[in-house]
Amino acid sequence: MEMSELYSHLGDDLGYVEQRLQERLHSPDRRLEGAATHLLTAGGKRLRPVFVLLAGQFGDYDRGRLGDVAVALELIHMATLVHDDVIDHADTRRGQPTVKAQFGNQMAMVAGDYIFAQALETLARLPDTRAHRILSRAIWRMVEGEIEQIRDLFRLDQTLLAYLRRIRRKTALLIEMSCTLGAMATGADTSVVRALRRYGYGTGMAFQVIDDILDFTATEERLGKPVGNDLRQGNLTAPVLFAMRDPSVRKKLEVCLGYGSETFNMDGAIELVRSGDGVAQAQRLATSYLIKARASLAPLADGMAKDALLSLADFVGQREY
Ligand code: IPE
Ligand code: IPE
Ligand code: MG
Ligand code: MG
Ligand code: MG
Repeated sequence: MEMSELYSHLGDDLGYVEQRLQERLHSPDRRLEGAATHLLTAGGKRLRPVFVLLAGQFGDYDRGRLGDVAVALELIHMATLVHDDVIDHADTRRGQPTVKAQFGNQMAMVAGDYIFAQALETLARLPDTRAHRILSRAIWRMVEGEIEQIRDLFRLDQTLLAYLRRIRRKTALLIEMSCTLGAMATGADTSVVRALRRYGYGTGMAFQVIDDILDFTATEERLGKPVGNDLRQGNLTAPVLFAMRDPSVRKKLEVCLGYGSETFNMDGAIELVRSGDGVAQAQRLATSYLIKARASLAPLADGMAKDALLSLADFVGQREY
């Protein structure tokens, strides 16, 4: 199943989520509304709502309730993106100027907070208070992931395990929660929730590993956001950590990244990673997460939702944007 087929399959319900997102970001303050809706209208894949809607098909499907979960999760995602682009000094996202590039850092911080608040408003509508606790913890963990990333900037001695722990928190958890809460909101069995949670974890981990690969291999035009930025800002991701397992590459990278020294050469460092074996190794890591993610779906009933989740895992492994 192609992504376009998947979107059209969910058509009506995705459209409903879209309309609810728009309504949520309406504000009497035109400037705030402009900044908050900027990212929404720029596009985006809406993957988290898609995960919610598909996970909801394994229980008693309820569009209104799933809509609340999907809107809350996409808003949390969007708020973190608006703030992330300030942290990462990024000027493009979804093929458009970022909120911070268009409106400045101050507006980006405020707009991100506003989007977060709207996510909480939506979440408060959910009668199952477990969802509130689960999501507040997820946000807290995401913040920890970002803090760990800041702590580890430019640390060449960091382990792959530290990287995995970071991306679990900053990215995989929200995807895991999209699957879990979609199933919980429709009263799915505990075994179903558990299976979807494992699927979300594996898919989410692969999603960030691929994102980190694309930062080296994609073009800004195709990706809709800056490339080559992670290493430039000191964020050592899977392709770099794998490349450094080769002692000669590690030595060259240490030379290139010797800040303040005459040998400092960031373009050279990026090129070393781009042309080395680290990208292929990172791709294998993503593939291994996706194999486990697909296997987690085995206990679930066969049908459109399961096929679509399997296709989504394929998309995550092969995505170019
Ligand atoms: C970008 O997520 C941030 C990461 C977790 C890597 P997406 O690639 O899902 O962003 P949009 O929503 O499609 O713009
Ligand atoms: C994921 O990391 C960001 C969030 C979870 C907010 P990145 O910083 O790599 O995301 P992009 O590449 O800017 O989308
Ligand atoms: Mg970031
Ligand atoms: Mg970023
Ligand atoms: Mg990235």
